[in-house]
Amino acid sequence: MSRWTASDVPDQSGRTALVTGANSGLGLHTSIGLARRGARVLMACRDAGRAEAALARVRAEVPGATAELVTLDLASLASVEAAADEVASRPSTCWSTTPASWRPRARRPPTASSCSSAPTTSVTSP
Ligand SMILES: NC(=O)c1ccc[n+]([C@@H]2O[C@H](COP(=O)([O-])OP(=O)(O)OC[C@H]3O[C@@H](n4cnc5c(N)ncnc54)[C@H](OP(=O)(O)O)[C@@H]3O)[C@@H](O)[C@H]2O)c1
Repeated sequence: MSRWTASDVPDQSGRTALVTGANSGLGLHTSIGLARRGARVLMACRDAGRAEAALARVRAEVPGATAELVTLDLASLASVEAAADEVASRPSTCWSTTPASWRPRARRPPTASSCSSAPTTSVTSP
């Protein structure tokens, strides 16, 4: 069986991906990979400085990338609700990764079901 790589991700043109923890690690590389495959990427981050640096990294790695920032602190339900409202106000399909801080007791962050247009895809890390 051949090894799966990011180049196996199919064309994402016309789709919007919401990526949590987008300023580093898996979230940043997921953002880069999806942008490279043509997705519009909503990068959800809690720190404005780290978010801007990550956005610059995505744009440097993927010239012409369509990427935007969403302020989201998953440790704050008020922030989650504000981010959900913000994302729901934008036409989007959501594809999200989940940082370690996410606690299942809390209400879910923005997901495919909270977004306003189909088709929808939601991916969460364990
Ligand atoms: N199943 C597996 O095989 C596997 C393998 C690797 C990783 N994982 C999991 O995948 C997730 C990401 O891993 P990683 O290596 O990419 O971790 P990482 O480099 O530490 O990145 C975590 C990201 O989550 C963000 N974050 C943390 N707390 C947050 C909060 N309260 N609100 C919003 N964002 C927050 C961080 O932002 P800040 O920069 O602001 O802190 C950072 O961008 C983790 O849950 C990890 O356990 C699973």
